[in-house]
Amino acid sequence: ESCFHEAKFIDQNGLMRTTRVPVVQELARRGLKHLPERFVTAPPDHPIVPSFALHPSETLPSIDVAKLRVLECDSESEGGRARARAQELLKLASGAKEWGMFLIMNHGIPSWVLHGVKDVVKEFYGLSFEEKKASVGSYMSVDNMGYGRNFVKSQDQCLDWIDRLTMKAAPKEATDGLLVWPRKPPNFRQVMEKYVEEARKVFNELLQAIAEALSLERHVFLQNFEPNKSEINVRVNYYPPCPRPDLALGLTPHSDASALTLLMQFDATAGGLQVFRDMKWVTVPWPHHMLLVNVGDLLEIMSNGRLESPWHRVVTRMDVERFSVALFYNPPSQAEIEPVRDETLSNEGYKRVVVREYLQNLYKISPTTDKQAINFAKV
Ligand code: OGA
Ligand code: NI
Repeated sequence: ESCFHEAKFIDQNGLMRTTRVPVVQELARRGLKHLPERFVTAPPDHPIVPSFALHPSETLPSIDVAKLRVLECDSESEGGRARARAQELLKLASGAKEWGMFLIMNHGIPSWVLHGVKDVVKEFYGLSFEEKKASVGSYMSVDNMGYGRNFVKSQDQCLDWIDRLTMKAAPKEATDGLLVWPRKPPNFRQVMEKYVEEARKVFNELLQAIAEALSLERHVFLQNFEPNKSEINVRVNYYPPCPRPDLALGLTPHSDASALTLLMQFDATAGGLQVFRDMKWVTVPWPHHMLLVNVGDLLEIMSNGRLESPWHRVVTRMDVERFSVALFYNPPSQAEIEPVRDETLSNEGYKRVVVREYLQNLYKISPTTDKQAINFAKV
Protein backbone atom coordinates (compact mmCIF):
# COMPACT_ATOMS: atom_id res chain seq x y z
CA GLU A 1 0.00 0.00 0.00
CA SER A 2 1.27 3.46 -0.87
CA CYS A 3 1.51 6.25 1.68
CA PHE A 4 0.09 9.70 1.06
CA HIS A 5 0.02 13.13 2.60
CA GLU A 6 -3.33 14.86 2.43
CA ALA A 7 -3.00 18.38 1.06
CA LYS A 8 -5.88 20.82 1.24
CA PHE A 9 -6.20 23.61 -1.27
CA ILE A 10 -8.82 26.04 -2.55
CA ASP A 11 -9.81 25.41 -6.17
CA GLN A 12 -10.80 27.98 -8.82
CA ASN A 13 -14.36 27.94 -7.56
CA GLY A 14 -13.27 28.77 -4.04
CA LEU A 15 -14.02 25.27 -2.79
CA MET A 16 -11.81 23.45 -0.32
CA ARG A 17 -10.36 20.39 -1.99
CA THR A 18 -8.12 17.62 -0.75
CA THR A 19 -5.51 15.92 -2.87
CA ARG A 20 -3.27 13.02 -2.00
CA VAL A 21 0.45 13.61 -2.34
CA PRO A 22 2.74 10.59 -2.29
CA VAL A 23 5.24 10.46 0.56
CA VAL A 24 8.57 10.75 -1.23
CA GLN A 25 10.53 9.03 1.54
CA GLU A 26 8.34 5.95 1.09
CA LEU A 27 8.75 6.00 -2.69
CA ALA A 28 12.51 6.17 -2.25
CA ARG A 29 12.47 3.41 0.35
CA ARG A 30 10.82 1.09 -2.17
CA GLY A 31 13.82 1.61 -4.45
CA LEU A 32 11.78 3.06 -7.29
CA LYS A 33 13.53 2.90 -10.66
CA HIS A 34 11.12 5.18 -12.49
CA LEU A 35 10.14 8.66 -11.51
CA PRO A 36 6.34 8.91 -11.13
CA GLU A 37 4.83 11.30 -13.66
CA ARG A 38 3.72 13.84 -11.06
CA PHE A 39 7.34 14.60 -10.15
CA VAL A 40 8.58 15.20 -13.68
CA THR A 41 9.28 18.91 -13.93
CA ALA A 42 11.92 19.15 -16.66
CA PRO A 43 10.93 18.86 -20.32
CA PRO A 44 12.75 15.90 -21.95
CA ASP A 45 14.99 18.18 -24.02
CA HIS A 46 15.93 20.34 -21.02
CA PRO A 47 17.24 18.06 -18.29
CA ILE A 48 18.11 19.61 -14.96
CA VAL A 49 21.84 20.24 -14.87
CA PRO A 50 23.07 19.14 -11.48
CA SER A 51 25.96 21.55 -11.28
CA PHE A 52 27.47 24.38 -13.26
CA ALA A 53 31.12 24.77 -12.44
CA LEU A 54 31.82 28.07 -10.76
CA HIS A 55 34.85 30.10 -11.59
CA PRO A 56 37.31 29.53 -8.71
CA SER A 57 37.26 33.24 -7.93
CA GLU A 58 33.53 33.07 -7.23
CA THR A 59 33.59 32.09 -3.61
CA LEU A 60 30.74 32.71 -1.28
CA PRO A 61 31.98 35.08 1.46
CA SER A 62 32.32 33.46 4.82
CA ILE A 63 31.72 35.87 7.68
CA ASP A 64 33.29 35.65 11.12
CA VAL A 65 30.37 36.86 13.20
CA ALA A 66 32.53 37.42 16.29
CA LYS A 67 34.52 40.02 14.36
CA LEU A 68 31.35 41.98 13.59
CA ARG A 69 30.65 42.75 17.23
CA VAL A 70 30.83 46.40 18.14
CA LEU A 71 33.98 47.27 20.06
CA GLU A 72 33.62 48.55 23.59
CA CYS A 73 36.33 51.17 23.28
CA ASP A 74 38.57 52.36 20.52
CA SER A 75 41.88 52.58 22.31
CA GLU A 76 45.16 52.19 20.46
CA SER A 77 45.35 48.46 21.14
CA GLU A 78 41.95 48.00 19.57
CA GLY A 79 43.11 49.37 16.23
CA GLY A 80 43.78 45.92 14.83
CA ARG A 81 40.36 44.67 15.84
CA ALA A 82 38.68 47.73 14.36
CA ARG A 83 40.42 47.08 11.06
CA ALA A 84 39.41 43.42 11.16
CA ARG A 85 35.84 44.48 11.83
CA ALA A 86 35.81 46.92 8.92
CA GLN A 87 37.17 44.17 6.71
CA GLU A 88 34.45 41.77 7.83
CA LEU A 89 31.74 44.36 7.15
CA LEU A 90 33.06 44.76 3.61
CA LYS A 91 32.86 41.01 3.07
CA LEU A 92 29.37 40.98 4.51
CA ALA A 93 28.29 43.72 2.12
CA SER A 94 29.72 41.87 -0.86
CA GLY A 95 28.05 38.57 0.06
CA ALA A 96 24.71 40.20 0.75
CA LYS A 97 24.78 42.34 -2.41
CA GLU A 98 26.38 40.02 -4.92
CA TRP A 99 24.92 36.68 -3.84
CA GLY A 100 22.08 37.59 -1.50
CA MET A 101 23.73 35.03 0.76
CA PHE A 102 26.85 34.32 2.83
CA LEU A 103 28.30 31.68 5.11
CA ILE A 104 28.82 32.29 8.82
CA MET A 105 31.36 31.05 11.35
CA ASN A 106 32.03 31.88 15.02
CA HIS A 107 28.32 32.59 15.28
CA GLY A 108 28.17 31.50 18.92
CA ILE A 109 25.56 28.75 18.47
CA PRO A 110 27.05 25.90 20.52
CA SER A 111 27.85 22.83 18.48
CA TRP A 112 25.88 20.63 20.89
CA VAL A 113 22.79 22.60 19.90
CA LEU A 114 23.47 22.03 16.19
CA HIS A 115 24.12 18.34 16.78
CA GLY A 116 20.95 18.11 18.84
CA VAL A 117 18.95 19.46 15.90
CA LYS A 118 20.46 16.89 13.55
CA ASP A 119 19.74 14.09 16.00
CA VAL A 120 16.07 14.90 16.53
CA VAL A 121 15.47 15.46 12.83
CA LYS A 122 17.03 12.11 11.97
CA GLU A 123 15.07 10.40 14.72
CA PHE A 124 11.85 11.87 13.41
CA TYR A 125 12.48 10.82 9.82
CA GLY A 126 13.57 7.41 11.10
CA LEU A 127 10.05 6.74 12.38
CA SER A 128 7.62 4.81 10.22
CA PHE A 129 5.22 6.89 8.16
CA GLU A 130 2.33 6.00 10.48
CA GLU A 131 4.34 7.09 13.51
CA LYS A 132 5.38 10.35 11.87
CA LYS A 133 1.85 11.14 10.86
CA ALA A 134 0.46 10.30 14.28
CA SER A 135 3.19 12.33 15.93
CA VAL A 136 2.43 15.59 14.09
CA GLY A 137 -0.86 17.42 14.26
CA SER A 138 -2.12 19.76 11.60
CA TYR A 139 -2.94 23.41 11.18
CA MET A 140 -6.42 23.91 9.88
CA SER A 141 -6.11 27.53 8.91
CA VAL A 142 -2.41 28.12 8.34
CA ASP A 143 -0.95 27.52 4.92
CA ASN A 144 2.05 25.46 4.18
CA MET A 145 2.64 24.14 7.71
CA GLY A 146 2.84 20.71 9.25
CA TYR A 147 4.23 17.45 7.89
CA GLY A 148 4.33 16.94 4.16
CA ARG A 149 2.57 19.94 2.69
CA ASN A 150 4.29 21.72 -0.12
CA PHE A 151 2.38 24.59 -1.76
CA VAL A 152 0.00 22.14 -3.35
CA LYS A 153 -2.55 24.13 -5.33
CA SER A 154 -4.12 21.66 -7.71
CA GLN A 155 -4.65 18.02 -8.50
CA ASP A 156 -2.19 18.00 -11.40
CA GLN A 157 0.52 20.31 -10.14
CA CYS A 158 4.09 19.09 -10.54
CA LEU A 159 5.47 17.93 -7.18
CA ASP A 160 8.87 18.42 -5.57
CA TRP A 161 10.99 15.45 -4.51
CA ILE A 162 10.81 16.37 -0.84
CA ASP A 163 9.14 15.58 2.48
CA ARG A 164 9.03 18.57 4.75
CA LEU A 165 7.97 19.50 8.22
CA THR A 166 7.13 23.13 8.99
CA MET A 167 6.39 24.72 12.35
CA LYS A 168 5.98 28.09 13.97
CA ALA A 169 8.64 28.29 16.66
CA ALA A 170 8.13 31.81 17.83
CA PRO A 171 6.64 33.84 19.33
CA LYS A 172 6.32 31.33 22.14
CA GLU A 173 2.75 32.40 22.85
CA ALA A 174 1.76 31.34 19.35
CA THR A 175 -0.31 28.45 20.65
CA ASP A 176 -1.71 27.67 17.21
CA GLY A 177 1.66 26.03 16.66
CA LEU A 178 1.21 23.59 19.48
CA LEU A 179 -0.52 20.95 17.43
CA VAL A 180 2.20 20.72 14.87
CA TRP A 181 5.28 19.93 16.94
CA PRO A 182 6.18 16.28 16.59
CA ARG A 183 5.66 14.41 19.85
CA LYS A 184 8.36 11.96 18.81
CA PRO A 185 11.18 12.08 19.57
CA PRO A 186 9.95 13.59 22.85
CA ASN A 187 12.69 16.23 22.99
CA PHE A 188 12.10 17.48 19.42
CA ARG A 189 10.42 20.72 20.40
CA GLN A 190 12.77 21.53 23.25
CA VAL A 191 15.85 21.03 21.06
CA MET A 192 14.43 23.11 18.21
CA GLU A 193 13.38 25.91 20.54
CA LYS A 194 16.89 26.07 21.97
CA TYR A 195 18.27 26.35 18.44
CA VAL A 196 15.73 29.06 17.60
CA GLU A 197 16.67 31.01 20.72
CA GLU A 198 20.36 30.90 19.81
CA ALA A 199 19.67 31.69 16.17
CA ARG A 200 17.61 34.73 17.10
CA LYS A 201 20.66 36.36 18.67
CA VAL A 202 22.62 35.76 15.48
CA PHE A 203 19.78 37.12 13.32
CA ASN A 204 19.62 40.28 15.44
CA GLU A 205 23.36 40.80 15.23
CA LEU A 206 23.39 40.21 11.50
CA LEU A 207 20.51 42.59 10.80
CA GLN A 208 22.44 45.37 12.51
CA ALA A 209 25.72 44.50 10.85
CA ILE A 210 24.12 44.30 7.40
CA ALA A 211 22.62 47.77 7.87
CA GLU A 212 26.03 49.12 8.86
CA ALA A 213 27.68 47.31 5.97
CA LEU A 214 25.28 49.15 3.65
CA SER A 215 26.22 52.47 5.29
CA LEU A 216 22.81 52.74 6.92
CA GLU A 217 21.92 53.45 10.50
CA ARG A 218 22.47 50.19 12.46
CA HIS A 219 18.88 49.81 13.61
CA VAL A 220 16.99 50.51 10.39
CA PHE A 221 16.21 46.84 9.81
CA LEU A 222 16.04 45.59 13.39
CA GLN A 223 13.57 48.31 14.31
CA ASN A 224 10.93 46.47 12.28
CA PHE A 225 11.26 43.48 14.59
CA GLU A 226 10.38 42.96 18.16
CA PRO A 227 13.73 41.40 18.87
CA ASN A 228 12.38 38.90 21.40
CA LYS A 229 8.97 38.30 19.90
CA SER A 230 9.13 38.31 16.14
CA GLU A 231 8.20 35.22 14.20
CA ILE A 232 10.58 32.41 13.48
CA ASN A 233 9.34 29.52 11.41
CA VAL A 234 11.23 26.23 11.21
CA ARG A 235 11.24 24.17 8.08
CA VAL A 236 12.87 20.76 7.93
CA ASN A 237 13.56 19.62 4.37
CA TYR A 238 14.26 15.98 3.58
CA TYR A 239 15.38 15.11 0.07
CA PRO A 240 15.55 11.31 -0.33
CA PRO A 241 17.65 9.76 -3.11
CA CYS A 242 15.87 10.36 -6.41
CA PRO A 243 15.74 7.92 -9.36
CA ARG A 244 15.90 10.76 -11.94
CA PRO A 245 17.72 13.89 -10.72
CA ASP A 246 17.68 15.07 -14.33
CA LEU A 247 13.88 15.26 -14.34
CA ALA A 248 12.83 16.22 -10.81
CA LEU A 249 13.60 19.06 -8.42
CA GLY A 250 13.92 18.81 -4.65
CA LEU A 251 12.56 22.30 -4.25
CA THR A 252 11.07 24.37 -7.01
CA PRO A 253 12.62 27.82 -7.70
CA HIS A 254 11.57 30.43 -5.15
CA SER A 255 12.74 33.32 -3.05
CA ASP A 256 12.19 33.12 0.69
CA ALA A 257 9.23 34.84 2.33
CA SER A 258 11.40 36.01 5.22
CA ALA A 259 13.69 38.88 6.13
CA LEU A 260 16.61 36.52 6.73
CA THR A 261 16.86 32.74 6.48
CA LEU A 262 19.39 30.62 8.36
CA LEU A 263 20.14 27.28 6.72
CA MET A 264 21.82 24.20 8.08
CA GLN A 265 22.43 21.12 5.95
CA PHE A 266 23.61 17.68 6.87
CA ASP A 267 24.76 14.49 5.24
CA ALA A 268 25.37 15.45 1.66
CA THR A 269 29.03 16.08 0.94
CA ALA A 270 28.13 18.12 -2.12
CA GLY A 271 25.15 20.41 -1.80
CA GLY A 272 21.95 20.53 -3.76
CA LEU A 273 21.26 24.22 -3.30
CA GLN A 274 21.46 26.26 -6.48
CA VAL A 275 21.07 29.96 -7.07
CA PHE A 276 20.14 31.76 -10.29
CA ARG A 277 23.10 33.96 -11.23
CA ASP A 278 23.93 35.58 -14.55
CA MET A 279 21.00 33.77 -16.17
CA LYS A 280 22.08 30.31 -15.12
CA TRP A 281 21.69 27.95 -12.20
CA VAL A 282 24.88 27.55 -10.20
CA THR A 283 25.53 25.28 -7.27
CA VAL A 284 26.06 27.33 -4.15
CA PRO A 285 29.62 26.72 -2.89
CA TRP A 286 28.46 25.71 0.56
CA PRO A 287 30.74 23.46 2.63
CA HIS A 288 28.24 21.20 4.35
CA HIS A 289 29.43 21.88 7.91
CA MET A 290 28.82 25.63 7.69
CA LEU A 291 25.67 27.64 8.27
CA LEU A 292 24.36 29.74 5.42
CA VAL A 293 22.32 32.94 5.65
CA ASN A 294 20.23 34.28 2.81
CA VAL A 295 18.28 37.46 2.21
CA GLY A 296 14.50 37.09 1.96
CA ASP A 297 11.92 39.25 0.21
CA LEU A 298 11.12 41.25 3.35
CA LEU A 299 14.71 42.44 3.70
CA GLU A 300 14.77 43.29 0.01
CA ILE A 301 11.77 45.54 0.68
CA MET A 302 13.21 47.06 3.88
CA SER A 303 16.49 47.77 2.12
CA ASN A 304 14.61 49.39 -0.76
CA GLY A 305 16.27 47.03 -3.19
CA ARG A 306 19.86 47.58 -2.03
CA LEU A 307 19.72 43.87 -1.35
CA GLU A 308 17.85 41.36 -3.45
CA SER A 309 16.51 38.04 -2.29
CA PRO A 310 18.13 35.30 -4.35
CA TRP A 311 16.04 33.08 -6.64
CA HIS A 312 17.04 29.58 -5.61
CA ARG A 313 16.13 25.90 -5.93
CA VAL A 314 17.31 22.49 -4.78
CA VAL A 315 18.37 19.64 -7.04
CA THR A 316 18.34 15.99 -6.00
CA ARG A 317 20.90 13.21 -6.18
CA MET A 318 20.53 9.64 -7.27
CA ASP A 319 22.15 7.90 -4.34
CA VAL A 320 22.54 10.56 -1.70
CA GLU A 321 19.89 11.75 0.73
CA ARG A 322 20.06 15.24 2.14
CA PHE A 323 18.50 17.10 5.04
CA SER A 324 18.37 20.82 5.63
CA VAL A 325 16.79 22.93 8.34
CA ALA A 326 15.72 26.48 7.50
CA LEU A 327 14.84 29.12 10.08
CA PHE A 328 12.87 32.05 8.70
CA TYR A 329 13.07 35.30 10.66
CA ASN A 330 10.18 37.71 10.12
CA PRO A 331 8.89 40.89 11.72
CA PRO A 332 5.54 40.47 13.51
CA SER A 333 2.86 39.69 10.93
CA GLN A 334 0.85 42.84 11.68
CA ALA A 335 3.94 45.06 11.33
CA GLU A 336 4.16 47.53 8.48
CA ILE A 337 7.64 47.57 7.06
CA GLU A 338 9.06 50.71 5.61
CA PRO A 339 11.75 50.71 2.90
CA VAL A 340 14.73 52.90 3.79
CA ARG A 341 14.51 56.08 1.80
CA ASP A 342 17.29 57.26 -0.43
CA GLU A 343 17.43 60.87 -1.65
CA THR A 344 19.70 59.87 -4.49
CA LEU A 345 17.08 57.55 -5.95
CA SER A 346 14.75 59.37 -8.29
CA ASN A 347 12.18 56.61 -8.27
CA GLU A 348 11.08 55.35 -4.93
CA GLY A 349 11.58 51.68 -5.61
CA TYR A 350 9.60 49.87 -2.95
CA LYS A 351 6.59 50.79 -0.90
CA ARG A 352 5.48 50.06 2.64
CA VAL A 353 3.76 46.75 3.12
CA VAL A 354 2.07 45.00 6.00
CA VAL A 355 4.00 41.78 6.52
CA ARG A 356 0.85 39.66 6.68
CA GLU A 357 -0.49 41.10 3.44
CA TYR A 358 2.79 40.53 1.65
CA LEU A 359 2.90 36.91 2.79
CA GLN A 360 -0.74 36.28 1.94
CA ASN A 361 -0.14 37.42 -1.60
CA LEU A 362 3.05 35.39 -1.88
CA TYR A 363 1.32 32.22 -0.71
CA LYS A 364 -1.59 32.89 -3.00
CA ILE A 365 0.49 33.13 -6.17
CA SER A 366 3.28 30.63 -5.36
CA PRO A 367 4.76 28.70 -6.98
CA THR A 368 5.66 31.07 -9.82
CA THR A 369 8.04 30.50 -12.71
CA ASP A 370 10.05 33.61 -11.92
CA LYS A 371 10.43 36.13 -9.10
CA GLN A 372 6.98 37.73 -9.10
CA ALA A 373 5.79 38.03 -5.52
CA ILE A 374 8.11 40.97 -4.90
CA ASN A 375 6.18 43.10 -7.43
CA PHE A 376 3.49 43.41 -4.77
CA ALA A 377 5.88 45.72 -2.91
CA LYS A 378 7.17 47.72 -5.85
CA VAL A 379 6.04 51.24 -6.59
C1 OGA B 1 14.11 26.60 1.75
C2 OGA B 1 15.34 26.35 0.97
C3 OGA B 1 17.38 25.11 0.69
C4 OGA B 1 17.99 23.80 1.04
O1 OGA B 1 13.77 25.76 2.62
O2 OGA B 1 13.47 27.64 1.51
O3 OGA B 1 15.61 27.07 0.06
O4 OGA B 1 19.21 23.70 0.85
N1 OGA B 1 16.12 25.30 1.31
O5 OGA B 1 17.28 22.89 1.46
NI1 NI C 1 14.47 28.89 0.20
